[in-house]
Amino acid sequence: MEKDNLCKHIAIIMDGNGRWAKKRSMPRTYGHKKGAENVVNITRAMKDSGVEFLTLYAFSTENWQRSEEEVNALMNLLNEYLDKEFKEIMDNDVRIIFIGERDMLDKNIQKKMAYIEKESNNNTSLTLCVALSYGSRQEIVNTVKNIAKNVKEGAIGIEDISIDLINKNLYTRDIPDPDILIRTSGEQRISNYLLWQLAYTELFFTKTYWPDFGKDELLDIIQQFNNRERRYGKN
Ligand code: FPP
Repeated sequence: MEKDNLCKHIAIIMDGNGRWAKKRSMPRTYGHKKGAENVVNITRAMKDSGVEFLTLYAFSTENWQRSEEEVNALMNLLNEYLDKEFKEIMDNDVRIIFIGERDMLDKNIQKKMAYIEKESNNNTSLTLCVALSYGSRQEIVNTVKNIAKNVKEGAIGIEDISIDLINKNLYTRDIPDPDILIRTSGEQRISNYLLWQLAYTELFFTKTYWPDFGKDELLDIIQQFNNRERRYGKN
């Protein structure tokens, strides 16, 4: 049996910031602050791991329903992250892309996102894909709408609809499917994350809360992945 051991893409659900803070009798927003710091740590660690793509679930479409205070705190952190980390991103040759419903975000944040994407577009050491205001079902709805429009306008026929065409219409059109999904904090759910793209992904769940998830655990998971046999439904 042929083994496909090369991990190109890791996707992470960064869960447990709130519980991490609660354990320390601190506000949830402090947990998010530590979580954002850990985004920087893990991005650095990834650069040494040889993995080419990292996709992080920073804010889901469902997260808009959290308290105004918490949504504002997350948006402020994101805003700060885009300002503070721009230089480090460029110095480290990281390409940034964003997936999700951008229109729902503040115009100023949208502008910064577009700027960073453009400036970092030719960087090649690592692609960091940030899922922001992202929901997989919404992504699939948008994809179906695009394809339906193309059929209606006569640009393509129904017989042209294929797995490949759907891949090309998703937000993730420029990146391969994840090889590894990690969810921190002990929850074992996919939570509307990359539903189509995770079809053959190896799943890893750890009890560690996101702010404590470090390089050693990341490298250990990559090692475990290397020992798993992927069959893609074949014998
Ligand atoms: C889940 O913890 C985490 C989030 C909803 C947001 C993740 C955001 C960050 C790590 C920081 C911002 C990101 C960037 C790119 C700057 P939770 O609040 O659901 O924790 P809980 O389940 O313990 O309550």
